[in-house]
Amino acid sequence: MSEIAQARGRLSDRGIDPDLVLGPGELGQAVDVGELYLTLGAVAASEKAGQSPTYAAARLALHAGLPNEIADTLFLAYNQQSAEEAGHGDKVFGNAFFALGGTPPHAELSVVGNPADAASLLAVSDDPKDNKKRLGSFAAIVGGLETVALQRAFPALVNLCERWDHPVARDLLQQMRDIVRPEESRHVLLFRYVFHQLIASKGERVVTSFREVFNGGRTQLGAAALDAAEFERLVGGSSPTPRQLLGKDRALAG
Ligand SMILES: [Fe+2]
Ligand SMILES: [Fe+2]
Repeated sequence: MSEIAQARGRLSDRGIDPDLVLGPGELGQAVDVGELYLTLGAVAASEKAGQSPTYAAARLALHAGLPNEIADTLFLAYNQQSAEEAGHGDKVFGNAFFALGGTPPHAELSVVGNPADAASLLAVSDDPKDNKKRLGSFAAIVGGLETVALQRAFPALVNLCERWDHPVARDLLQQMRDIVRPEESRHVLLFRYVFHQLIASKGERVVTSFREVFNGGRTQLGAAALDAAEFERLVGGSSPTPRQLLGKDRALAG
C-alpha cells in the first residue's frame, strides 16, 4: 500500500476525515488532511535529524582554534540548538503526528539527510584549521535550510493548521507560535553570528563561497538562491550578541 493510502487508513481509524481539503500548501497545491499528516511526519523526522549534527558542531567549536569567548558561545548555542531541534522533532511535531495515529517517524522521512552521516562529517580532527572550516560550512548549509524553514515551510504549516478545526491543529499552532518560531529564529541568529565572527573579515572570496554553501542548503529544500545583496540584508551589518543567541534578550531574526 502506498504511503498516502496508509496515512488515510490511519487517520480514518482515528475518526478523522483524511480527504478534507485544507487549502493551498507551500507550492500553491491543494492540501488535504492526509497530506498534512504526512508532512508532519517528515517535519518531525527532519527536526529530529538536526539533533546530532548540531551537537557535533558544538564539540567542533571547542577545537577550532577560536578565541575562548567565541568558542564558548558557539559551544553553548549549538548545544542548546541541538536540544531544541530534538524537542521540535519529538515534542512538537512528533506529538502531533502520534496524536493523529502516526507510528514513530523514522530517519528516512527526514528531508535534510541522514543525521549519522552529517555528524560523522563533523567529527573533531587534530587540525584546528580544518575543524574551523567544517564548522563554517555546516553553519552555512544549516543557515540555508533554516531560513527556508522559517520563512516558507513553517508559515505554510501554520496556514494549513489555521484552516483545520481540530484540537491537534489548535495545539500545534500554539506550540509553533510559542516554542518553534522563537527557537528557530535564534538558530538563524546563530548562523549570522558565525558569519560575522568567522567569515565576514576574511575577504570577498571566502564570503562568496560561504554564500554558495548557504544557497546549497536553500536549493536542497527547493527554494531560490539569494544573490549577494539579499544575502547581505539577511546577515545584517553586525553580529548578534551571545545573550541574544541563548535567548537571554528578546531578539527576532527574519
Ligand atoms: Fe528546527
Ligand atoms: Fe533550527
